[in-house]
Amino acid sequence: GELDKNGFEHFMLKEIFEQPQTIEDTFKGRLKPEYSDIVLGGLHHVFPRIAKAGRIVIIGCGTSWHAALIAEYLLEDFAQIPVEVEYASEFRYRKPLLNKNDVVILISQSGETADTLAALRLAREKGALVLGICNVVGSTLSRETEAGVYTHAGVEIGVASTKAFTAQVTVLTLFTLKLAKTRGTISDEEYSLLVKELAEIPKKGRAILENNEKIRQVAEKYKDAVNALYLGRGTLFPVAMEGALKLKEISYIHAEGYAAGEMKHGPIALVDDNLPVVVVAPQDAWYEKIISNIQEVKARKGNVIAIVTEGDTGLKELTDDVIEIPRSHPALAPLLAVIPLQLLAYHIAVLRGCNVDQPRNLAKSVTVE
Ligand code: G6P
Repeated sequence: GELDKNGFEHFMLKEIFEQPQTIEDTFKGRLKPEYSDIVLGGLHHVFPRIAKAGRIVIIGCGTSWHAALIAEYLLEDFAQIPVEVEYASEFRYRKPLLNKNDVVILISQSGETADTLAALRLAREKGALVLGICNVVGSTLSRETEAGVYTHAGVEIGVASTKAFTAQVTVLTLFTLKLAKTRGTISDEEYSLLVKELAEIPKKGRAILENNEKIRQVAEKYKDAVNALYLGRGTLFPVAMEGALKLKEISYIHAEGYAAGEMKHGPIALVDDNLPVVVVAPQDAWYEKIISNIQEVKARKGNVIAIVTEGDTGLKELTDDVIEIPRSHPALAPLLAVIPLQLLAYHIAVLRGCNVDQPRNLAKSVTVE
């Protein structure tokens, strides 16, 4: 059942392993047969307004904010609509410029985060169309937004969010594709290809989970690190930040997620033979660039753990450890690349004797300011 560990040592591990299923659950009723259409019932009545919006502002905290950043790349790329992403705690205390042509999307697993609810109320006051992406049915957020989409990830008990994140990214991907189709900014071929590939993500997720023991062995090597750096480009930059957040939340190792191209403006100063650098490096449009980043780290004796496309033997030679993920459309890579990062953080935390389900000082849902 949802409220027991089903034989897993921790809720977090159980929830990581549930992801192929929870992503599938998020498709249910939304991916039509033969992938002919995407149906987001909760947004149906407002979709014409969304399609004509001048701008989309996406707001959240923590892991939900990382999902928002991925959506910024996807929406601007495929739906060609300007997007801004904000921390709820910042948005609520500045004087944001919003009007009736703006769509504001609040992302929250719990639907009860105080800052996110305050941002919601502010956005409503300013007359924007206010939507929610939320996991908890009947939550305050789901009641106060005008329309929205549920993530259907099921109850998440581990304080560090895992399956709620991949469900959020799934919903945001469906939303992006539907919006792009409606706005005529994606070709029929690319749309069908993406929808078809999205439907294959759960299967590919299962293949990654089969590497769990390998990832545990990598964790053994790095469990005593004091700091860690995570690098990625494009949509995998927010994934790098999410990987770093997982590690710091549950293992208390200080970790930073950075855009790989920005490394030379600071983090490179930290690189020495004691610094693990996790590089999300699948074979996509940024592959050559990320290889140079890896070379820069290796030249300074950093330890590189690379998340690579299955069968990429070149990077094996260049790095200390590789973790493979199946090939996918680059737009869908976040859903796969985050899984080994979750497992790496999990195993390092367990090996350090940390309480992974209930890390110190953190709350599952921050309902007070
Ligand atoms: C807390 C949790 C995080 C979560 C964040 C936002 O910090 O520990 O896992 O990402 O709140 O929560 P929400 O429920 O709004 O997504």
